[in-house]
Amino acid sequence: YEWMHHSVAPKPHADENFRVSIGGPECTRPYSASVFNISAMSFGALSPNAVRALNAGAKKGGFAHDTGEGGVSPYHRENGGDIIWEVGSGYFGCRHLDGTFDPDEFARIATDDQIKMVELKISQGAKPGHGGVLPAAKVSEEISRIRGVAMNEDCISPATHRAFSTPLEMMAFVGEMRRLSGGKPAGFKLCIGHPWEFLAICKAMLQTGIYPDFIVVDGNEGGTGAAPLEFMDHMGMPMREGVNFVHNALIGINARSRIRIGAAGKIATAFDMARAMAIGADWCNSARGFMFALGCIQSLSCHTDRCPTGVTTQDPSRNRALFVPHKVERVYNYHHATLHALAELLAAAGLEHPQELRPIHFSQRTSTTEVQTFAKLYPSLRPGELIDGTSDPRFRDAWAMARPDSFAPAD
Ligand SMILES: Cc1cc2nc3c(=O)[nH]c(=O)nc-3n(C[C@H](O)[C@H](O)[C@H](O)COP(=O)(O)O)c2cc1C
Ligand code: SF4
Repeated sequence: YEWMHHSVAPKPHADENFRVSIGGPECTRPYSASVFNISAMSFGALSPNAVRALNAGAKKGGFAHDTGEGGVSPYHRENGGDIIWEVGSGYFGCRHLDGTFDPDEFARIATDDQIKMVELKISQGAKPGHGGVLPAAKVSEEISRIRGVAMNEDCISPATHRAFSTPLEMMAFVGEMRRLSGGKPAGFKLCIGHPWEFLAICKAMLQTGIYPDFIVVDGNEGGTGAAPLEFMDHMGMPMREGVNFVHNALIGINARSRIRIGAAGKIATAFDMARAMAIGADWCNSARGFMFALGCIQSLSCHTDRCPTGVTTQDPSRNRALFVPHKVERVYNYHHATLHALAELLAAAGLEHPQELRPIHFSQRTSTTEVQTFAKLYPSLRPGELIDGTSDPRFRDAWAMARPDSFAPAD
């Protein structure tokens, strides 16, 4: 059982439009993001009307809409809501015919004003290390055009990237994404797997001097339109451990102040947000929370193209079931009400902004006789501790195994 601590001296209710500025020293066009945004879900997985309603809701509420790896569709553009453009291993929307990354096409789209940040997808918590597939049934003529792939064939995101194969090359690629986008915040999304691989990326940051502006950490509890059951249930680090691991690793290499951390993984309420932000997240994303706002009834048939509510289908008659003007309001209301509830929680705890949340503000009952604060459960590294040499058992061995020139561990 877990709870947040309140104060005997609550603060007045703060303005609930909480923002976080994203963009390190190498970024010339930082983005002031809401602390609550729509997590990556592709057009293709989602229907045209679902994308329309999400983006119009984002516009109305002043928050951001992540495209997912399926490219920027006309439905993302109709209503002008802020976009985070995600690029995955299929390079959909910015690929040559042979499936390799096309920098010119990337730059053409990424420099558009509506696109506020660019995000490299490394992995997704529901199917980390697996790549992805948009089943042939959902690859319409329109999707094949937007993604640059063949029609009526399964549309595959390979498990690995072709544009880079080492941590050093990955950092160079993130730097290139920032340059090609005209200096917008560039970052990556992943679910933590082998700890030494993330630490290898940290070593590559130190060696190249190229740092991402943000990192989105997805938990293994994350959702998807289609993934093997064993992956959904058992692969990858859960969100809280992942967020706290990344947060501490960045403290340990003295990079925490320049890199913002986003979190996704069953974050649907203000309490979920506060808890994730206390242990390292600067902002939170929700995918399924916003699907529920669109009317999803959890029938679990997203991969069949027979979604009964019009959320995840390319069938025009089913897409019509999602009436956009109503759902725009629901998307907007869900975001607004969640941030209102967050403001109330913070005020009761004597705080004014979620950035003030710390592990000491939460407790967990760990056995029938013991209660621990999060400060005990999620201890912090000292600034620079990884560089100086740590004896912390969570990091010591993995740091020694990490090498910037390869994702493979050192012997
Ligand atoms: C239908 C659907 C499609 C998704 N597509 C993507 C995607 O294209 N790229 C990605 O990084 N994550 C994708 N995700 C994962 C979400 O962005 C998110 O990280 C994960 O579901 C955890 O958030 P949640 O618990 O709020 O759903 C998808 C999730 C769902 C439910
Ligand atoms: S209603 Fe069912 S098929 Fe439609 S999005 Fe929800 S879970 Fe998927």
